[in-house]
Amino acid sequence: MDIVKAIHSRKSIRGFKPDPVPKEVLREILDIARRTPSALNTQPWNITVVTGEVLDNIRKGNIEMLVAGAEPNPDFPSKPYEGIYRQRQVDLAIQIFKLMGITREDKAKRAEWRERGFRFFDAPAAIILSMDRSVDKLLSHLDIGAIVQTICLAALNYGLGTCIEVPGIMFPEVVRQYTPIPESNEILISIAIGYPDWDFPANKLETEREPLENLVTWCGFA
Ligand SMILES: Cc1cc2nc3c(=O)[nH]c(=O)nc-3n(C[C@H](O)[C@H](O)[C@H](O)COP(=O)(O)O)c2cc1C
Repeated sequence: MDIVKAIHSRKSIRGFKPDPVPKEVLREILDIARRTPSALNTQPWNITVVTGEVLDNIRKGNIEMLVAGAEPNPDFPSKPYEGIYRQRQVDLAIQIFKLMGITREDKAKRAEWRERGFRFFDAPAAIILSMDRSVDKLLSHLDIGAIVQTICLAALNYGLGTCIEVPGIMFPEVVRQYTPIPESNEILISIAIGYPDWDFPANKLETEREPLENLVTWCGFA
């Protein structure tokens, strides 16, 4: 697939067909993605791929935590977005809820949508990215971001859809219960992956981006 076409056609997929993703396909995607550049070629990423019973156990464990009223406690600190960033977050939620037919007042449907994230959007597989806590955080987090995008783009070549997502790993103790990810690794992000269900309403979402003029400062040009 042409690289520009791939970048334009990638979008977050939040509803999947139940069909399993063959291990060989996931292996090929990750074999491509390992070519991602990293600071000083440190390659700080640690990749854990989960499916089947292991993934189901993580989903179940996450939901049990939610139902028990546990506060998510990811391995990384997070703070609420403010200003324009908060506005974009709200705009996204409004768009998704509209497509999904979820009204502001419908607490049950809103809760169910929240739970979907903690269930990796019911994807047949998920890729969990973690990193040794001893490495430089700033540069390594950039490296992890780079490999995440490479994985999502490479997945398109195999007809797969992805959603980069946080809720699935917000209870790291659950993830560690069912995977060998050690405490010395910081669990950073996950990617839900599978064959897109194009009838799923949220998959119809086309997100906006700021116009280039608002992003770029040109210096030294005539
Ligand atoms: C670091 C990161 C975390 C994200 N976490 C979530 C998430 O928790 N839930 C979700 O539905 N989407 C999540 N997304 C997807 C973004 O909402 C999505 O990329 C953005 O709205 C742009 O839409 P697009 O991916 O369809 O182009 C995340 C994306 C990134 C890069």
